[in-house]
Amino acid sequence: MQGSLHREGINMVKAEDLTLIEKASLLSGQSEWESRELKHRNVPAFVMSDGPNGVRRQTGSGDHLGLGESKPATCFPTAGTVANSWDPQEARVMGEALGAEARDLGVQVLLGPGINMKRNPLCGRNFEYYSEDPQLAGRLAAGLIEGIQSQGVGACPKHFAVNSQELRRQASNSIVDERTLREYYLTAFEIAVKEAKPWTIMSSYNMVNGVYAHENEHLITEILKGEWGFDGLVISDWGGSNDIVESARVGAGLEMPAAGLASARQVVQGVKDGRVTEAELNASAQDVLNTVERTRNTHPTGDGFLTEDDKIRNHEIARRIARKTAVLLRNEKNALPLKKNAKLVVVGDMAATARYQGSGSSKVNAYRVDNLLDSLKAREDLQVVGYAQGYDRQGAERADLVKEAVNTVNTTNPDVVVACIGLDERSESEGLDRSHMRIPQAQLDMLAELVDTGKQIVVVLVAGSAVEVDFADDVDAILYVGLSGQAGALATVDVLTGDVNPSGHLAETWPVRYEDVPNSGNFPVEERDSVYREGSFVGYRYYSTRNIPVRYPFGYGLSYSTFEYSALSVDDEGVTFTVTNTSDVLGADVAQLYVHAAHSGVLRAARELKGFQRVELDAHESKQVRIAFDDYTFRHFDVDSQSWQVEAGAWELFVGNNVNNTPLQATHVVQGTMEPQPRNEALGHYWDGDVKNVTDAEFEALYGGKPDLYDPQGVFGANDALSSWSSSRSAVARFVVNHLTKQSDKAMERTGSPDLNSLFVLNMPPRAMAKMTAGAVSPEMVDGIVDIANKHFWRGTSHIIAEYFCNASANKKTLKEITHD
Ligand code: BGC
Repeated sequence: MQGSLHREGINMVKAEDLTLIEKASLLSGQSEWESRELKHRNVPAFVMSDGPNGVRRQTGSGDHLGLGESKPATCFPTAGTVANSWDPQEARVMGEALGAEARDLGVQVLLGPGINMKRNPLCGRNFEYYSEDPQLAGRLAAGLIEGIQSQGVGACPKHFAVNSQELRRQASNSIVDERTLREYYLTAFEIAVKEAKPWTIMSSYNMVNGVYAHENEHLITEILKGEWGFDGLVISDWGGSNDIVESARVGAGLEMPAAGLASARQVVQGVKDGRVTEAELNASAQDVLNTVERTRNTHPTGDGFLTEDDKIRNHEIARRIARKTAVLLRNEKNALPLKKNAKLVVVGDMAATARYQGSGSSKVNAYRVDNLLDSLKAREDLQVVGYAQGYDRQGAERADLVKEAVNTVNTTNPDVVVACIGLDERSESEGLDRSHMRIPQAQLDMLAELVDTGKQIVVVLVAGSAVEVDFADDVDAILYVGLSGQAGALATVDVLTGDVNPSGHLAETWPVRYEDVPNSGNFPVEERDSVYREGSFVGYRYYSTRNIPVRYPFGYGLSYSTFEYSALSVDDEGVTFTVTNTSDVLGADVAQLYVHAAHSGVLRAARELKGFQRVELDAHESKQVRIAFDDYTFRHFDVDSQSWQVEAGAWELFVGNNVNNTPLQATHVVQGTMEPQPRNEALGHYWDGDVKNVTDAEFEALYGGKPDLYDPQGVFGANDALSSWSSSRSAVARFVVNHLTKQSDKAMERTGSPDLNSLFVLNMPPRAMAKMTAGAVSPEMVDGIVDIANKHFWRGTSHIIAEYFCNASANKKTLKEITHD
C-alpha cells in the first residue's frame, strides 16, 4: 500500500447517544460529494467520488454527470473492457492503484465498480458493467473491491439492483421473478459482498417489483444484510431515494447527494408517527457513523503522497491491463501480428484522437492520453507511410474524407491498412441507450471503400459494448480493444506487433444482429414498468438454449497461439484437465467450465458458466488446470421453500475456451439437497428458452402471479419522469419537456457529446428535485410542481411560493438544532 494507514476501531460514536434530529440528519448528504458532518459530536464528513475506472475528484460544488472539471487522474480501461481479461487478480491490481489515487486526492469512498448484468446490448452504460454473466462480473468486482479497500478507501459496488436501462432511469420499475432475481441479477452482488466485504453499496434508481431500491426491504433487509451478512452502508444513487422514512426503516443508511434538512424532519416525524422505530433509525445512522470511522484516517484534503513515478507506474498498470483485454476477433492469413518493417497506412479519426472512455459520471480527467497513430509512428520496426481521417466522428457522410483515405492508400501502396473505427462519444453514455447496434454508417461506407482497394485491412475496433460486425468477412483481421483507458493505444500496438499475444475473451455475446437479442422487442421500455419477461434467458444463456447462431460467442477470443484441451477428470470437488499450447509462441487462454443439469425438472439454460481460469503457457507447454466447484456451481433458488437448493441427479460438465467451443465434456452425479423435481408444464415456451414467444400465462407462472402494472390514468405524480409530461394538458409542462428535448438535440449536434444535464432532467421524476437541491426545494414544493403538471397552474405556483418560505425558515431552525450554534 502506498502511504500510511492507521485504522482505529470502529463504532466510536454511537447513534443512540445522538439526539433524534442529529441522527436523522446523518441519513442525507450535506453536499454533492459529502456525508453530513456533526462537528460538535466529532463526526466528520466523508468524501465520495466516482468512479469505477479512474478517480473523478471534483472540487467546488461538483456534479454527478461528469460535466464539471475534476482533478487529473489515471483513466483505466472501463469495466466492460477489463472483463475481457477474465482476470480477477488484474482487477485487484487496478483496484490498488485506484484506491491509492483516491487517497491521494482525498476521496474516502470510491463509487464503483458497476456490476449490473448486461441485459441488452443497447444499454447506454454497458461499458461501465462487466458482463452478461454473474460469476464473471462478481469475481472481477471482488478483485477490484479488495484492491481499493486495501488502500483504506471504501468501495461502493453499484447499482443494487436490476438496473438495466438508461431511459427513464430514475422512474422505471423492473418487474422480475424471484428465481431470475436471485440467480441472475443478484449473484454478482452476492459474490462481491461475500468475497470482498465492501464497506458500502449503492442502491439503484429504479424500483424492483414496485418498490424503490433504496427502500426495498426484500433487497436490503432480507437479502443484503440478512442473508449475505453485509455490514456496511447502503448509499442511494444520486437523487435516487424516495421515502426517507422507509429507507431508515429498512436499513438504507444514506441518501445522496444533498436532500436538505426536510429529509431529517421527515424522519423525526416518522419516529413520532411510529412509521420507523428509534432502534431502526439508530441502526441506519450507525451504518453512516461506522463508515466515518472506517475512513477516518484518509484525509478529505488528500494525502498528496503519490510521486510522478507512481503516476507513471499507474499508466503502465493501465497499459498492462489493456493488453490483457484486447480480443482478437478475426485473423485471416496471419494478417496479425504485423510483419517487421511493414508499411502501414493508418485510417480513422479515432486513431488520431483516441476514444478511450465513456460519457457520464465515470468520465475521468486523464492526465495523459496516448493515441494509436503516434504510438504506431513511434515504433522503429514499422513504417507509417500515411494517415487519413477517413470519416466524420459525428457521423456526417463526408465523401471528401473517404476519397482522401482511398487516395492515401493508392498513392503510398502500403502492406497493410490499419482502420480504427467504432462507436463515437454520443453512442455510449449514462442517461442514454443506443438506438441500434451498428457503428455509424459513414464509417462502414468508408471501410467498404478501403476494402475495394484490395489491400490487407486490419480493423481496430473501439466500442464499450457489443456491435454488429457485418463487415467481418470483408476484412483480414479485427482486434477489438473496447474502451481501453489512457494507455490503451500503447497496449493496442503491443498486440498488433506481437510483442504481446492477445488473450482477451469476450465477456458478452456478440449477436449477428440486434433482432436476435432475446428482449430486443422490449427495450428500452418507455413506460414505467419494464417486465423482464425473458427471465434469466439473457445473453449466452438464451443463444445456447435456442441454438441461435451468433457472430462471436460469449467467452470467445483468438490468439497467435493455438491451444488443445485434454484429459478431463471429475471428482466431487471439481474438475481437472490439461491445456497445451500447440504453437511456437508464448500465449494465454481462458479455460471455462459450464454446467447443465441433464434431466432436470428445474428450468435452466443449456449452459451456465461456473468457473474459469486464465492459463499462461510457453510455446508447446502443457499445464494441468483445476477448477473447483463452489456454493454457486449447482444451486438454484427454490421459490417454494425460499431457499437455495441443489437438485440431485446427473449434471453435464463442459470445458473449453468459449461457450460454443467446449471440447471436453463429462457427466457427474450430484447428491443434491433435494430430489429431482417434476417439470412445471405451465412454463410452456420457457422450457425451450423460447422467450420471445412466452404468453402472459407462462410469464405469470414464472413470476408467481399477475404483476402489478401501473396505470397513471392521465394524472402525473411526483414519481413520473418529466419526459412523460409531453402528454400533459398543461402548456407549461409540455413547454418544459419540449424545451429540454430541443436543448438536448441541439447540444448533441453542436458538441458531438450527449447533453447529460437535459437527459438527466428528462429522465428524472419531480420527487428527485427535493433530493438534489441541498434544501432549496422541499417535498412540499414538489407537490406544487406536480400540481402545475396536472394543469393547476395557480394552485401549484402559490403552493410553491408559500412552501418556499416555510421551508427556508424550518431549515434555519433545524440547522441550529444539529450544529448547536
Ligand atoms: C450515477 C452513479 C454515480 C452518481 C454520482 C449517478 O447519476 O448513476 O453511478 O456514481 O451519479 O456521480
